[in-house]
Amino acid sequence: MSESVTTENLLDNLSTAVLVLDEKLQVQYANHAALAVFERSLSLLIGCSFNQLIVASTLDFVRFQNTMQYGEVYSDSEVTLTFADGRQTQTDISVTYILENQAKRFLIEIRLIEQQKKISQENQQWAQQQAARELVRGLAHEIKNPLGGIRGAAQLLEKQLPSADLKEFTQVIVEQSDRLTNLVDRLLGPNLRPSFEWNSVHQMLEKVCTLVQLDPSHNIVITRDYDPSIPELYLDQDMLQQATLNIVRNSVQALLECPEVAGEIKIVTRIERQVIIHGQCFPLCVKIQIIDNGPGIPDELKSTLFYPMVTSKQDGSGLGLSISQTLIAHHRGKIEVDSWPNRTEFTLYLPIDKKESKQ
Ligand SMILES: Nc1ncnc2c1ncn2[C@@H]1O[C@H](COP(=O)(O)OP(=O)(O)OP(=O)(O)O)[C@@H](O)[C@H]1O
Ligand SMILES: [Mg+2]
Repeated sequence: MSESVTTENLLDNLSTAVLVLDEKLQVQYANHAALAVFERSLSLLIGCSFNQLIVASTLDFVRFQNTMQYGEVYSDSEVTLTFADGRQTQTDISVTYILENQAKRFLIEIRLIEQQKKISQENQQWAQQQAARELVRGLAHEIKNPLGGIRGAAQLLEKQLPSADLKEFTQVIVEQSDRLTNLVDRLLGPNLRPSFEWNSVHQMLEKVCTLVQLDPSHNIVITRDYDPSIPELYLDQDMLQQATLNIVRNSVQALLECPEVAGEIKIVTRIERQVIIHGQCFPLCVKIQIIDNGPGIPDELKSTLFYPMVTSKQDGSGLGLSISQTLIAHHRGKIEVDSWPNRTEFTLYLPIDKKESKQ
């Protein structure tokens, strides 16, 4: 091999994570992609037992161990790995047994398949959600038009009623019309024109935290992990606050359902490079994560989560996430979700514009 291409350099530039384990399944080597998969530095990874890094998986451990006994190569696709911090990811994995200077080793290759799947799912779901939202908006509009007339007619009728007892009935019509108007207004979504200004996302997040912490009905702890280097964004403060608050409120409500766990909501901000949002690649984005340790999103809701009127709550209207998505779309951003029992992560991506482009 030419001197300019070293094996080390090649391995570190692979997109596949490569690990070498010894007989006791302790890590002896990890390439850069492996550090990213396990979210650990090299010093924290070396010597660590594979079973400590991955607390659960759909990997066939018997076949894995057999590679050593019989010198076989073992490959498996769509293996779900659960890491020590609760993260889960889908991978294709292969394990090869190698003998090096009489020492037995496992060579593990891990390829993440999540990313690819997410992008194709995202495009499909986005189209379906748009169609569902248009349908609901159309219906809401048709319901809203006669509602004003019904309410007005009931009020006129009330004035003509011969007996005060009968007012009870016209009152019901007025109250229920108001309730429906309220609902269709939410279905129609925000009708104010966005007013964009350069502002800090952290200031917006702090407002959300204050609002949630002021609520005396819970003692959920909110922790922040902000990246102070994030620049100001061209945003509508009220819209973003509403979008984030809907997500944080859902976390609070989910945590209240399981009082046996000490509820925690973590808000993390980072800069993310090369993010694809609805088919367009943005070089720089702010990533805002809202993570709770609640029960997780019910499986049956996952595929339709952002549709209007999808709810698991008795008094829920199922509009919170649909509204959040519309508001984030006004900022050319997107929302992603990952959820398992004890960990639900909502991730918002918002493109970072250069200031001169908006002046
Ligand atoms: N952090 C979370 N943990 C568990 N389930 C969640 C979480 N966030 C959302 N969900 C589920 O997603 C459903 C839809 O949420 P959404 O905010 O759209 O509506 P809702 O909260 O039911 O009603 P609304 O927000 O209109 O009052 C919820 O009913 C809940 O089942
Ligand atoms: Mg909600």
